[in-house]
Amino acid sequence: MSNSNNEDTKLHVEADEKHLLLDHNYDGIHELNHPLPSWWNFIFWAAIVYAIGYFIYFQIMSGPTLREEFKKDYSKTMLLQDEYKKRNSMYKPELYAAVANDEGIKKGAEVFVNNCLPCHAEGGRGDIGPNLTDEFWIVAKSTPETIYNVVYNGSEANGMPPWGEVLSSEEIYLAVSYVSSIKNTHIKGGKAPQGEKIDE
Ligand code: HEC
Repeated sequence: MSNSNNEDTKLHVEADEKHLLLDHNYDGIHELNHPLPSWWNFIFWAAIVYAIGYFIYFQIMSGPTLREEFKKDYSKTMLLQDEYKKRNSMYKPELYAAVANDEGIKKGAEVFVNNCLPCHAEGGRGDIGPNLTDEFWIVAKSTPETIYNVVYNGSEANGMPPWGEVLSSEEIYLAVSYVSSIKNTHIKGGKAPQGEKIDE
């Protein structure tokens, strides 16, 4: 059955498409030329040009490898992290002032009992760690700031652990408040003085 005369299969060319009709004709089959939009062509060619540049830069010239780019980003991140840690570990007088009172000392005593007792003993009279109730100091220099620094960073070579990443910032200031309150109180049965005498 042939339907070559069927109206449905006949070429319909709209009036405004006439100019698109290509002049070849295969057994009655005509072809319209609908070129791709210019923005599409532009992206297509731009992608090819980009790919050539990309290939030359990364494969032939000395463009960084993924591993090198990762290393660069990684060390940048580490640097930022160090800076952040340094900033975070800095003594802040206002945070100390907020706990330098009776309540802070009481709470600080709890922090001390829970963390510092094994080495500094009851009331800070000293055992493995030095007596904290005299006016002799090994690493700290009696001021809240220097006490804070040794509590935060420790003095690891001599057996004082760093607490900066163990305790919360508040707990550290509370402990400093407690230690500041017991200095120069000369607890009975305290360990013999160690370090340098600091008169205030
Ligand atoms: C594992 C034992 C140990 C623990 C636990 C410990 N310390 Fe120490 N601490 C030491 C030693 C040892 C030193 C002396 C460090 C040195 O000689 O450099 C010290 C030094 C100090 C100093 C400086 C004293 C000075 O004379 O300069 C302070 C302040 C201090 N500790 C506070 C604390 C606080 C607060 C805690 C609890 C959060 C604590 N320590 C927990 C062992 C310890």
